[in-house]
Order: sequence, then C-alpha cells, then structure tokens
Amino acid sequence: MTSPALAGAATRGRHERRIIVMVGAPGAGKGTQARRLAAELGLLHLSTGELFREAVRDHTPLGDKVRSYVEKGALVPDDLTVAMVEDRLARPDADAGAILDGFPRTRAQAEALAASLGRRGEAVSAALYVEVAPDALIDRLAGRRVCSTNENHVYHLASHPPARPGVCDIDGARLIQRKDDEPATIRKRLERQLPPMYEVIDHYAETGVLSAVQGDQPIDEVTADLRRCISSAGRAS
Ligand code: AP5
Repeated sequence: MTSPALAGAATRGRHERRIIVMVGAPGAGKGTQARRLAAELGLLHLSTGELFREAVRDHTPLGDKVRSYVEKGALVPDDLTVAMVEDRLARPDADAGAILDGFPRTRAQAEALAASLGRRGEAVSAALYVEVAPDALIDRLAGRRVCSTNENHVYHLASHPPARPGVCDIDGARLIQRKDDEPATIRKRLERQLPPMYEVIDHYAETGVLSAVQGDQPIDEVTADLRRCISSAGRAS
C-alpha cells in the first residue's frame, strides 16, 4: 500500500505540472518555438504532428489510420488525437509538464483536454497564440526543409538556410521537404485548419489563459515575447 506521504507527493507532482498550449496556423513557427521553450523550461515537447508522422513512418496501427489525413493536410479525427495525447501525457517524462505543439486544434479537443486535466486537478496554465499573416505562412511552409533523420532539425531556404545546400548542419543527413509542404497541400491545410483554430483561440480567451505574440518577427524575438507571456501567466496563477 502506498503511504499517505508518498501518495501526497505523487498527487502534488501532478498538481504542479505545467501544461502550456501553443496555438498557431500551419507554419506559424509553433514547432521552432516549442522546442526551444521546452528545453529551457525542462518540459516535454509534445507535437501531435510529429507523433502522427512517426506513427505513419513506423507503419503502426495508428499510423495506418491517420496516414491519409496527415498527407492531405486534413485534421485527424478528434477521438484518435485526444487518446494519443492523453496516453503521452500519462508517461513519466511528462511529470514536470509539457508544451503542447499543435494540440488542441479544434474546440472539441480543447474541451476534452480541459476535462482530462480537470480529472487530475490540473488545467492549462497558458495558451500562446503565435500570430502570422496568411501570405507569410505559405512562404514559410514552401521554404521549409527538414532533416531526413531527425525532423527536429528544421531549416528554411531563405530565413534559416543550412550551411551546405540540402545537407543538415547538425548530422550531415539529407534535407527533405515534408509531403504536406507541397504547394497544393499547403493551401488545403490553411483552408481546412484555420477555421477550427479560431475556435480554439476563442476557447482559451473565454477561459482567461490566452496571450498572443507577433510571429512575424525574427525567431529570437518571438521566443523572448513568449517567455514574457509564460512568466506573467506563472505570476497570475
Ligand atoms: P503539424 O506537424 O502540427 O503541422 P502544422 O501545424 O501544420 O505545423 P507545422 O509543423 O507545419 O508548422 P509550425 O508552426 O510548427 O512551424 P515551424 O516551426 O516548422 O501537423 C501535421 C499534420 O498532423 C496536420 O496537418 C494534421 O493532419 C495532423 N495533426 C497534427 N495535430 C493534430 C491535431 N491536434 N488534430 C488533428 N490533426 C492533427 O516553422 C515553419 C518554417 O518557418 C520553418 O522553415 C522555420 O524555419 C521557419 N520559421 C519559423 N519561425 C520563423 C520566424 N520567426 N521567421 C522566419 N522563419 C521562421
């Protein structure tokens, strides 16, 4: 039997978890910023897009179910997405908390997350909206290249080019274009994904945890603005 002290510590650990949500259109820079901030804050970086792409690559049962959605730039059904996030947040490396990158993406997902965290006495501590004009999004996605062996190594042909064209600076692997970054798919992603994103923004505005930062600035300045939002959310809670 667990001692009351240990049980209390476990519960306290869960209560103190920091759950930060990163909201933004495809290409807004959520991944770029979430990776930096998660490393700085010692939180798990949980990208639903990355988890889905990994499942597709590994041909898991989840991957087979979501492949067509991900490759066409459509949203994966809410039930599959919510179950995957709940499972990931229950693992020990999420004990300190997480930055959720690309989730929630619909109001139903935001409500399911709130309910799931609420069952543990937790809540989203900050929702950070990285705002970028639609024309800039197309350019960001079309110019993005990722490392073929580690998609956390992200480049942009104009704003962040690799030292040698087509080669990852970090591990020397070949750079590739994501399938959903092909021009025809980019427009479909934006058309399909922006309306539900605005509902997520409304949800977090209603719950009082939303902050917006201007994403059309150099990467370091966006990070600095996000840091300020996170520390004022910390002071408010
Ligand atoms: P996901 O991987 O989440 O894709 P996304 O939201 O479309 O976001 P991106 O990864 O394309 O962009 P980002 O905002 O992370 O930008 P990045 O930092 O790379 O999802 C993929 C798919 O999975 C979805 O289409 C869907 O099918 C499915 N899915 C995922 N989550 C789901 C959910 N919750 N529900 C249902 N389905 C889901 O930056 C982009 C480029 O810009 C890079 O080249 C970068 O170097 C450059 N850049 C970044 N910041 C700046 C800056 N400040 N200035 C100049 N360039 C910059």
